[in-house]
Amino acid sequence: MKVVVGSDHAGFLLKERLKTLIGSLGHEVIDLGTHSTESTDYPDYGAAVGRKVMELAGEGAKGVCVCGTGIGIGIAANKISGVRAAVVSGASAARLARAHNDANIICFGERLIGPVVADDALKIFLETPFDGGRHARRVEKLNELK
Ligand code: RB5
Repeated sequence: MKVVVGSDHAGFLLKERLKTLIGSLGHEVIDLGTHSTESTDYPDYGAAVGRKVMELAGEGAKGVCVCGTGIGIGIAANKISGVRAAVVSGASAARLARAHNDANIICFGERLIGPVVADDALKIFLETPFDGGRHARRVEKLNELK
């Protein structure tokens, strides 16, 4: 699977850690930056990840966004049509974001989550399929919102 990653400066270190995990799970990492802890603006990276995930949607690509809280970069990603970006706090939220919401981007707050908790959440996010069924109708309603 192609996994598109992006962060601002406040999420850079966790992004780098998660890239290693993604590679060790056999997935391809597409890193859209940032590439250091120098101050940047999270909307640029959230939008870039969102656009790339949608460009690769036919291949089932997923995205990973990290900022200080996961919130700003997630808001930015969700501005891109077709993106369902979920800020998660751990493995249960990551699993349900996939199973119920068919989330295609997972967002983390480096300042709020422990690195091992983030590892576990990301692994489960990448492994968990969408449940479909009654959830498909709801996701379709999300897709129709303007
Ligand atoms: C950067 O200081 C911080 O505001 C940003 O990483 C993020 O937490 C915003 O939502």
